[in-house]
Amino acid sequence: MLKRGALCIPVFVAFSSVVLFQTRMTARGLNPCVQVTPGIAYVCMELNLKEIPPDIPRSTQNLDLSFNPLEVLNANYFSSVPALKFLDLTRCHITMIQDDAFAGLHNLSVLLLTGNPLQFLGPGAFQDLTSLQRLVLVDTSLSSLDSLPIGHLTALQELNLSNNDIDSLKLPKYFSLLTQLQRLILQSNKISSIFQGDLDAMPTHNLTLVLCRNNIKYIQPRSLKGTYLQELSLRSSFEDNSIMQAGLLNMTGLHVNSLVLGGYRNLQGGKSFNKNLLDGLCQMDLQKITLICTKDAFPRTDILSACVNNISTVRFVHAYLRTVDFPENTAIRHIECKDCRFDRVPVEKLAPLQELRVLRITNIGRLIEFDLHSTIWTLPKLEVLDLSNNQLNTGICWSCLKERFSNLMVLNLSFNPLVRVPAELIGPTTLKYLDLQHSRLIGPGKLPSFLGLKNLIYLDITRTSTSVNIECSFCGLDSLEVLKMAKNSFKGNRVTANTFTNVTKLKMLDISNCQLQYVSLSSFDLLHDLHELNISNNKLLDFHPESYLHLHNLTILDFHCNQLITLTKKHLENLPGGLKKLDLSENLFDCSCDRVDFLRWAKEHKDLFMHTEMMKCHSPTHLEDTQLMHVDLSSCQISTATVAVSVSISVFVALALILVYKFYFHLYYMMLLLSGGHSSTDNNKIYDAFVIYSSEDQAWVKQELEETLESGVPRFRLCFHYRDFRPGVPIIANIIKEGFHSSRKVIAVVSTHFLESRWCNFELEVAQSWQLLDSKAGLIFVVLDGVDRAVLRQKLGLFRYLRRNTYLVWKDRDVKRHVFLRQLKAALLDGKTWTEDELRSMLVN
Ligand SMILES: *[C@@H]1O[C@H](CO)[C@@H](O)[C@H](O)[C@H]1NC(C)=O
Ligand SMILES: *[C@@H]1O[C@H](CO)[C@@H](O)[C@H](O)[C@H]1NC(C)=O
Ligand SMILES: *[C@@H]1O[C@H](CO)[C@@H](O)[C@H](O)[C@H]1NC(C)=O
Ligand SMILES: *[C@@H]1O[C@H](CO)[C@@H](O)[C@H](O)[C@H]1NC(C)=O
Ligand SMILES: *[C@@H]1O[C@H](CO)[C@@H](O)[C@H](O)[C@H]1NC(C)=O
Ligand SMILES: *[C@@H]1O[C@H](CO)[C@@H](O)[C@H](O)[C@H]1NC(C)=O
Ligand SMILES: *[C@@H]1O[C@H](CO)[C@@H](O)[C@H](O)[C@H]1NC(C)=O
Repeated sequence: MLKRGALCIPVFVAFSSVVLFQTRMTARGLNPCVQVTPGIAYVCMELNLKEIPPDIPRSTQNLDLSFNPLEVLNANYFSSVPALKFLDLTRCHITMIQDDAFAGLHNLSVLLLTGNPLQFLGPGAFQDLTSLQRLVLVDTSLSSLDSLPIGHLTALQELNLSNNDIDSLKLPKYFSLLTQLQRLILQSNKISSIFQGDLDAMPTHNLTLVLCRNNIKYIQPRSLKGTYLQELSLRSSFEDNSIMQAGLLNMTGLHVNSLVLGGYRNLQGGKSFNKNLLDGLCQMDLQKITLICTKDAFPRTDILSACVNNISTVRFVHAYLRTVDFPENTAIRHIECKDCRFDRVPVEKLAPLQELRVLRITNIGRLIEFDLHSTIWTLPKLEVLDLSNNQLNTGICWSCLKERFSNLMVLNLSFNPLVRVPAELIGPTTLKYLDLQHSRLIGPGKLPSFLGLKNLIYLDITRTSTSVNIECSFCGLDSLEVLKMAKNSFKGNRVTANTFTNVTKLKMLDISNCQLQYVSLSSFDLLHDLHELNISNNKLLDFHPESYLHLHNLTILDFHCNQLITLTKKHLENLPGGLKKLDLSENLFDCSCDRVDFLRWAKEHKDLFMHTEMMKCHSPTHLEDTQLMHVDLSSCQISTATVAVSVSISVFVALALILVYKFYFHLYYMMLLLSGGHSSTDNNKIYDAFVIYSSEDQAWVKQELEETLESGVPRFRLCFHYRDFRPGVPIIANIIKEGFHSSRKVIAVVSTHFLESRWCNFELEVAQSWQLLDSKAGLIFVVLDGVDRAVLRQKLGLFRYLRRNTYLVWKDRDVKRHVFLRQLKAALLDGKTWTEDELRSMLVN
C-alpha cells in the first residue's frame, strides 16, 4: 500500500500540472466553459465573454451564459447553437435585442433574461421561439406590457415579469393568443389600481395571477366580476388592512379557486385589526383561502366570520394563531394550520366542524397535547388527520379513533417525540395509511399494536426505536402492502421465520439499517406478492438464496452496504426471475480468481445492478477498492490454465508414486534379475535347483528332497533358503541372487499352503520373469497330495505346458514314490554338466 501511495503522489502532481496548464491555455483562447454533459450542457458563467465561444458544439441544448457582457444581441446571434432548449442570459448587460436575435431556436423552451437593462426590443426580437414555455424577464426595466413582442409565443406557459416598473394590469390584446399561459407573475411592480376590463384579454380560466408586493390602492368596484382565475396571490399587495378590506369588497363577483392573502415573514403586517377584514370573501366564489404570515393581524380566527362558510379549504401558514374559532354551521372541509401558535390541538373548537374531511396541524414547536379521550369530539367525515412535526407526547387509543372518526383513512403522527401505541382488538377498520415515522413509539415490537387495523395498506415506522421482540408484532395487518421500518432493531439482530407471517399481502418491505446479522431462511416464504425488498445497511454476511426462493414477484432487491463476499452458483440460479434492480454495492466482495464465475456473471448482467460504481473489491489486497466491473478476468484465465497443468502433473506424479509403491517389489526384482541376467553362465550355477515351498511343508522338503537328493547318487546340490541364504541381505535379493541366479532349475513344491501363501506366489512370479530372461531356466513342479485341481490350473496356468518345465505329482505310496524320484532326478539331470570332483566322487561310490 505504501509503495502505491508513494507512486501515486508524483503521478498526481504531474497530472494536476497538466490539468492546470490546460485550464490556463483554454482560459486564454479556447473553450473556457465548463462542460457539464459533453455535447449537451455547458456553463460559461462570468467569463467576460462578448460572444458565444466558437467551440461550443452545435448539439448543445443547455447553455448558461450568465454574467457575461454580451450587451447587444444581433440577428442570428445564436445560429451556432440551434439545438438549444435552455438558455440563461441572466445579467449580461443586454440593452438591445434586435429582430431575429434568437432565429433558428425552434426548440428553445426556457429563456432567462433576468437582470438585463433592456432598452430596445425589436418587434421580431423573439421570432422563431415557437417552443418557448417559460420566459423570465425579471428586473429588466420594463414599464409596460404593451411593448412586449411576445404575441406569437403560443406555447408560453409562464411569464415572469417580477421586479419591473409595470404600472398597469391592463392586458394587451395579444394575451388572448397565449392560450397555454398558466402563470402570469407581476410581483414587485408598480400596479396600484385595477380597472374594469383590465383582464379582458385573459386567455383562459386557469390563470395563476401573482400580484404580491404591489401597492394596490384602488380596485374599481365589480371590475373583476365574471373573471375566472385559478389562483390570485395578494401577499403584501395592500399598504394596510383597511385598504385590503375595501379592496376585497370591491372584488365582488370574482371566481377564484385559491386566494392567497397575508404578508412575508420579514414584512411588518398591518396593525389595525378589523373584525370584518375578510367580509369581501362573502361576495366571491372561492374554494380555498391561504392566510400567510399574518403576524398579529389574525390573532383569532373568528374574524373569518360567516364569510368562510362557503369556502371548503382554509390554510393558515406561519400564522400567529393561538386557537381557531370558526363560525357555526360552516361547511369547511379542509383545515391546515402550519407553524401556528397552538400548544394543544383545539379539540373543542374543531368539534363543530362536522363536514371536516382533512385536518392538518403541523410544524408547531409548542404543540404538546392531543386529547383523544374527551367525549364531545366526533368528526364522522374526517378522512385525514395529520399531526406530524409537532412536539406531541401522546397515546393513540384505537377504539377512540374508531368511535370519533368513523371514516378515518390517514393518520399521520410522524416526527413527534413520543407516541404510545397500545394493543387493542377494536380499531379503525377504515384506516389505510398510518405514518408514525421518526416518532419514538412505545408498544410496537413488544405488543401486537396493530391488531384492529385489518384494512391498513401503508405503515411507516421508520426510526421509531422499535425493537421487534414478539412474533405477533404485525398481527392483524391482513391488508398491509407497504411496511417501512428502517432504522429499528430486531431481537438478537435476526429476522425469524415468523416475524412476517401475518403480513402476507406485503408488496414493499424496508428493513434497512436494522443491524441485522441473520435472516431466517423462511422469513419471506409467505410474501408471494413482495415487489421490493430493502435490506440494505445491515450486517448480513450472506444472501441465503433459499430466503428469496418464494419471492416470485420480486423486482427490486436492495442489499447494499452489507458484508457479502460473493454470490455462488446456487445464489445465481435461485435469484428471482423477475428481478430488475439489484443493489449489491458497498459489500465486501472477494475478487480473487476463485470467484471468477460471479465476477463474470456480474459483468454480463451489468444492467441489473444499481450503483455499479460502488461495487468494489474488498479482497485480495492488491484489488482493494477496485470497481468490481473493472476487474481484469483475463489474468484469472491464465492461471486457470496453469492450475490445470499443475494439477494434471501432480495427479500424474501421484499416480506414478502409487504405482511405484504398489509394484515396488516387482520393479526391484526386475532390476535385480536384469542386473544378474547377462553374467549368469552355467559356471556361476552352484546349485542344481532352488527349492521354493511353503514353510508348512518344511518337513516334507527336508525328508523327501534334502535327504534323498543331496545324499543319493548322483549327488545334487539344492538351495534352501533356511540354509543357503546369506544373512544380512534383503530377502528378495537373496531369493534372486542366491536362489534364481545361482541355480539351474527351480523346484516348486506345490501344496494347498503354497497356493495360499502370498510369498510363494511372489516367488512363482519371479520364477516366471526369470524364465523369460533366461532361456535355459526350467521349473519343476512337485504337486503334493490334496491340492485343488481348479486352483492349481488357475495358478500355474501356462507354466505347466512350457516344454522346459516338468510336472510331477507326488504320491505317498512306495511304488509311485520310486517313479517320482526317478522322474525328478531325470528332470534335474537335464542340462547338467559335471565337474571333475563330482565325477570322481561318483566313481568312488
Ligand atoms: C428539435 O427537437 C426535435 C424533436 O426533439 C428534433 O428532431 C430536432 O432535430 C431539434 N432541432 C434542432 C435544431 O436540434
Ligand atoms: C420569477 O423569477 C424570479 C427570478 O428568477 C424567481 O425568483 C421567482 O421565484 C419567480 N416567480 C415565480 C412565482 O415563480
Ligand atoms: C390549470 O393550471 C394548472 C397549474 O396552474 C395545471 O396543472 C392544469 O393542468 C391547468 N389546467 C388546464 C385545463 O389547463
Ligand atoms: C373600493 O370602491 C370604493 C367605491 O368606489 C372606493 O371608494 C374605494 O376607494 C375602493 N377601495 C379600494 C381599496 O379599491
Ligand atoms: C406525514 O407527514 C410527514 C411530515 O409532514 C410527511 O413527510 C409524510 O409524507 C406524511 N405521511 C403521509 C402518509 O402522508
Ligand atoms: C398469524 O399467522 C399465523 C400463521 O399464518 C396464524 O396462525 C395466526 O392466527 C395469525 N395471527 C393473527 C393474529 O392474525
Ligand atoms: C433502501 O434504504 C436505504 C436507506 O435505508 C436508501 O438509501 C435506499 O435508497 C433504499 N433503496 C431503495 C431501492 O429504495
